[in-house]
Amino acid sequence: MQRLEAGPVRSAAGRTYDADPGALLSFDLSRPGRMGVSLPPLDVPETPLPDALRRDELTLPELSQLDVVRYFTRLSQRNWAVDTHFYPLGSCTMKYNPKVNDAMAALPGFADLHPEQDDTTVQGALELMWTLQQWLAEITGMAAVSLVPAAGAHGELSSILLVRAYLDWYEGLPPGEQPPKPRRVLVPDSAHGTNPATAAMAGFAVESIPSDADGNMDLRALESSLKDDTKGRVAAAMVTLPSTLGLFDRNITRIADLLHEHGALLYGDGANMNAMLGQVKPGDLGFDVLHLNLHKTFSTPHGGGGPGAGPICVKEPLAPFLPSPHVRRTERGFERYRPERSIGRIGSFQGNFGVLVRAYAYIRSLGADGLREVSEAAVLNANYIQTRLAEAYRLPYRRRCMHEVVFSGSRQRAHGVRTLDIAKRLIDYGFHPPTIYFPLIVDEALMIEPTETESLETIDAFCDAMLAIAQEAEQSPELLREAPVRAPLRRLDEGTAARKPDLRWRPQRSQEPG
Ligand SMILES: Cc1ncc(COP(=O)(O)O)c(C=O)c1O
Repeated sequence: MQRLEAGPVRSAAGRTYDADPGALLSFDLSRPGRMGVSLPPLDVPETPLPDALRRDELTLPELSQLDVVRYFTRLSQRNWAVDTHFYPLGSCTMKYNPKVNDAMAALPGFADLHPEQDDTTVQGALELMWTLQQWLAEITGMAAVSLVPAAGAHGELSSILLVRAYLDWYEGLPPGEQPPKPRRVLVPDSAHGTNPATAAMAGFAVESIPSDADGNMDLRALESSLKDDTKGRVAAAMVTLPSTLGLFDRNITRIADLLHEHGALLYGDGANMNAMLGQVKPGDLGFDVLHLNLHKTFSTPHGGGGPGAGPICVKEPLAPFLPSPHVRRTERGFERYRPERSIGRIGSFQGNFGVLVRAYAYIRSLGADGLREVSEAAVLNANYIQTRLAEAYRLPYRRRCMHEVVFSGSRQRAHGVRTLDIAKRLIDYGFHPPTIYFPLIVDEALMIEPTETESLETIDAFCDAMLAIAQEAEQSPELLREAPVRAPLRRLDEGTAARKPDLRWRPQRSQEPG
């Protein structure tokens, strides 16, 4: 089991040495006059920069080239990354993505394109996008796909704006006019948090539907909400499948039928598609519109606020409303165009092209059989963890999970240990903690997503650590409350760190002694 070694070293003579130079900032290493380059003497007339472009107030560190190289190399090594550690962050799919896909995205023929280039000069790129549209439609069982949205939540918003435009058109509402009664969007309480936020942003009244004892959407609550005309008509339900409980809603086709009977649409949050690839097509289950997270399922690394792609996939009647530009094949070749009743532009240009190249390369290299294996391994790994930990941690829903498993730390709470303490203790064992306190409907939630790319040895090592921690919670709870004890930094003030992050170095601070 991997353990972090940190902290100062004490010599035999009793002097303390800092064995963690990575903790020093470039500003701390700075020495006046030191620099990274030495330029030859000037042999042309000196032309100073205009005063308007100069400022003196910036205090920049002065370092040699070697200092800079070491500084940034050390910084990069202080990261917790999926390239260095197991990273079981539920709902975030921190999986290993084959580097060949990055290499494809970096090919100069792709990376050096300009989005304003004429279509005739970027036929290869447009063909790639068109093909990806076809493949994602095939994988999801939908009729048409837009690659424009740049993130999952962006795909959600685009989908819901599209639902609104479709209903306006279907009901013959003149452009810009509001419906007579506000429209509602139903969101199960096991949905991803971005779903209700999206519906509210798009101007819908949001209504939460509770889960039943099995973790499915409560059908009776859904029916009564659909029938309740006093609150305005239901435009759609937004269902995350599998849900954030890591469960496949067994009533999903019944849910689709009920919505359709009431003239409402079924939107799917398909960000967890790595649980279903090649097993089932959301289109066949009755979804009308669905978004995918290419940066979770299809190779671009997830997290860190980096570029993503949240394509939306729709059934035929919704295709004319897709965002612009869409890519089509004509006799003249491939071209970008604005669909007939498009909701318009939802971002600049046509999305994050590099992410689309990675997805293309990923699908192409795995093929249909490979994609099916992805979902099999993702689900198998999560269920393996569920089985190994089910005696030590409370399982709120005792049924087979999908790509992630949600435990509750309520048993450990009885010993005065909170889920946060368990997460912090995992750092001492060399593991990134799983997602905690989400989903909100599970008390002391621990949401673990091993992903499909981890080996049995890694998963076993993680389970061993979790079992050891469960034992520690009973025998020495104070140890957990103090964790992490082996990390360079101990407990942060979580509230202040989240609400008032202090991420900038300021001269007066670092000049203060100690
Ligand atoms: C189920 C689900 N839906 C939506 C999102 C939002 O995606 P993004 O972070 O790209 O906006 C996520 C994020 O991981 C997710 O897990």
